[in-house]
Amino acid sequence: MANQAIVHASELLTGAGIRVKDGRHVAEEDLGRIKDGALVYSVTRTGREIEWVGPTAKLPKKFARAKKVDLKGLRAVVPGFVDCHTHLVFAGDRSDEFALRCGGVSYEEIAARGGGILTTVRATREASIAELEKLAIARVKESESYGVRTLEIKSGYGLSFEAELKVLQVIARLKKRFPEMTFRSTFLGAHDFPKDRTREEYLSDLLDKMLPEVTRRKLADACDIFVDQGFYTLEEAKLVLARARELGLAVKMHADELVNTESAALAADLNCLSADHLLKISDRGIAKLASSNTVAVLLPGTAFYLKAPHAPARKLIQAGACVALSTDFNPGTCMTLNLPAVMTIAALYLGMTRAEILAAVTYNAAKALGLHDRKGTLEPGLDADFTILPFARFEEAYYRFAW
Ligand code: NIG
Ligand code: FE
Repeated sequence: MANQAIVHASELLTGAGIRVKDGRHVAEEDLGRIKDGALVYSVTRTGREIEWVGPTAKLPKKFARAKKVDLKGLRAVVPGFVDCHTHLVFAGDRSDEFALRCGGVSYEEIAARGGGILTTVRATREASIAELEKLAIARVKESESYGVRTLEIKSGYGLSFEAELKVLQVIARLKKRFPEMTFRSTFLGAHDFPKDRTREEYLSDLLDKMLPEVTRRKLADACDIFVDQGFYTLEEAKLVLARARELGLAVKMHADELVNTESAALAADLNCLSADHLLKISDRGIAKLASSNTVAVLLPGTAFYLKAPHAPARKLIQAGACVALSTDFNPGTCMTLNLPAVMTIAALYLGMTRAEILAAVTYNAAKALGLHDRKGTLEPGLDADFTILPFARFEEAYYRFAW
C-alpha cells in the first residue's frame, strides 16, 4: 500500500537516544528533538511501519507522492503514549468512600471494614458483560484523547472464576473494538481475597482453575499480584507467578505500595516485566531493580490521591533503574485516566526531567509490557505508533495541567 506522511510537525521527538540507553540515565539529547519534523510510514495488512523520520525540508524525493497530513508547524509529534498499568474494567461507584477518606479515614481502614477493592468486586460481579463493556468503551476513548496508544488493563475486580473471566472477555472485546490501539491484558485474580472462599480455597482456585483456563483461552498476556500487608505474601507470590510463567504468561507485581515487604526485590529476582507502585521500596529493592531488567513503574497519581509520600523516583533513576509512569486508573486509589496530569505530578513532586518523563510514558512503559522491540521510539522499522499533540511543544502536554 501507499506511504503516508506527516509533515511540518512543529517538532518531532524520536526518542532514539532513549532506546540506545535502554531508558536509563536519559538526558535532554536523548529526546531526538527535530524542528519542523516529518515522518513517513507504510500501511500494510498487519500494521503501520515507519519508513523515514527527519526534518520536512529533507524529505527524500521517493516519498514525494506519499499521502500527506500537514501539521502547519502547530502541533508536535511524539511516540504514542503507553499507559502500562490500569484497572480500567469495573462497575460501581466509590465516591462515598472517597468522602470518608477526605474526612480522615484511611484507605486501609476502609478496606478492613470490607470496603475498598471488595466494594468494586460486588458491583463488578453484578454487572453484565455488556454493561462492563459500555463503561470500558467510554474510558478507552477518554484515555485515547490524552494521546495514549497502548493501554494495559488488569482484571482483579471479579475474584471468582466466572467474574474474572467476564472481565477478561471485556478486555478481549475492547481489543476488537479499537483496532488503532494496542492492548495488553493482565490477569490480576490475585488482587485481594474474596469473602466467599477461604484463603486456601482461593489460592487453589487461582493456581488450578483460573490460571489454566485464562491461558487456555488466551485471555491474558501477563499475570500480576498485589503483594502487601493484608493482601498476598511473598511466598504466595512465588507460587502464583511460578504457575503463571509455567503456563506461558509474563509476570508483574504490585510491590511495596502500602508497606515495605521487600516485594520489589523479589520482582527483580523473578525477572518480572515490572514492579509497580514502590512507595515504600527499600535501598536494597532499589539496587536490585537497578541491576535488573524489571521496569520500575511509578504511579504518582496514586500517591497524590492517597495523600501518601511519593516513590523515591530520583534514587531509582540515579541508581540506573528503567523508570516508567502510568495512571493506575482505578476507583479506589487513582480515579483518573489523565496520563499527562500524572506527568505533571512527576515533574513537580518526583523531580523528573522532561527526558525522563518522555522516556517514562513511551519506551520504558512499553518495556514494562514487553513491547519495546516495536514501540516506544519513532525510528525506521518500528511501529508507526505516534501521537499528534494539540500543542506545538511536547512540554505543554504536562506544563498545561490536567487538560
Ligand atoms: O493499584 N494496589 C492495589 N490495587 C489498586 C487499588 C484498587 C482499589 O482500591 O480498588 C492500586 O492501587
Ligand atoms: Fe494498580
